[in-house]
Amino acid sequence: MFDRSAVALVGPGAIGTTIAAVLHERGRTPMLCGRTAHPQLTLRYDGGEIVVPGPVLNKPAAAGQPVDLVFLAVKTTQVADSAGWLAALCDKNTVVCALQNGVEQKIQLEPLVNGATVLPSVVWFPAQREPDASVWLRTRPRLTLPDVPQAKRVVDALSGTRCAVELSADFTSIAWRKLMQNAVAGLMVLANRRAGMFSRADVTTLAESYLHECLTVARAQGANLDDGVVQEIIDGFQRAPADLSTSILADRQANRPLEWDIRNGVIQRYGRAKGIPTPVSDVLVPLLAAGSEGPG
Ligand SMILES: NC(=O)c1ccc[n+]([C@@H]2O[C@H](COP(=O)([O-])OP(=O)(O)OC[C@H]3O[C@@H](n4cnc5c(N)ncnc54)[C@H](OP(=O)(O)O)[C@@H]3O)[C@@H](O)[C@H]2O)c1
Repeated sequence: MFDRSAVALVGPGAIGTTIAAVLHERGRTPMLCGRTAHPQLTLRYDGGEIVVPGPVLNKPAAAGQPVDLVFLAVKTTQVADSAGWLAALCDKNTVVCALQNGVEQKIQLEPLVNGATVLPSVVWFPAQREPDASVWLRTRPRLTLPDVPQAKRVVDALSGTRCAVELSADFTSIAWRKLMQNAVAGLMVLANRRAGMFSRADVTTLAESYLHECLTVARAQGANLDDGVVQEIIDGFQRAPADLSTSILADRQANRPLEWDIRNGVIQRYGRAKGIPTPVSDVLVPLLAAGSEGPG
């Protein structure tokens, strides 16, 4: 059993506000650590809203002691800037649950957390930040974590909340499956279009080629995924509402840096390291990287 009051949330954006709100609803409000001192956090969902009183702390010096559990929900492009929070909140007894896309959370975060345990997660729910910084939660929140002893701390913290937590003995396969879905969503950035673009036959053909490339790399990294995953992912986009967006498209449209490296660059990097040809990545990745630096 750990101290449920010793929980911090770093990065109170779309995903972070959701987790802070579901904890607050059960009387387990975490310490709110961010970049902007928002006076409060507001989560809206079908049928209601949860307001988490602030303010959001914006100076790591205010953190005090290391805590038992840190939920980290900054974009991966913001990790370096949030290092001050991690240094203040973590020691070797801390568990850091990364609520971030990709398959490289441990590699990216371990140098920053004073020997704490880093737990990756797969975040399954879309949440959208509105212009007033409130967050619109579009489905029931759900996370998958690796089935390791430290994950029990996350399960305990979120038990009885609106956020379901599943543990997987084969987290590698689940994380790569989600990464493939994120990678192909990167095509939306180049088309400047939402999920409706996958109704085109030529886009479907391109998506299939890219997903087969991703699948070869995923398997080389130990993911146990069968060929059917390619069609499943395409079917998912084709069944989705035509206006379903993706955070990398929202970031591009707002001229913010893109998480292109952990969503798309990773396929090219790991492919090259294993001698796997990555012809689709070789076109896609430089264009996403260039878009991330834009617009000038
Ligand atoms: N949104 C989704 O639907 C979704 C779904 C699955 C996975 N994910 C993944 O979840 C991760 C988080 O995404 P998101 O959509 O929640 O991002 P987001 O809405 O942009 O939130 C990021 C938060 O981090 C804060 N932040 C930035 N720099 C910081 C710093 N130096 N110290 C502390 N806080 C800092 C931001 O502060 P400000 O308030 O100042 O902006 C913002 O509150 C990403 O890896 C994303 O790919 C997102």
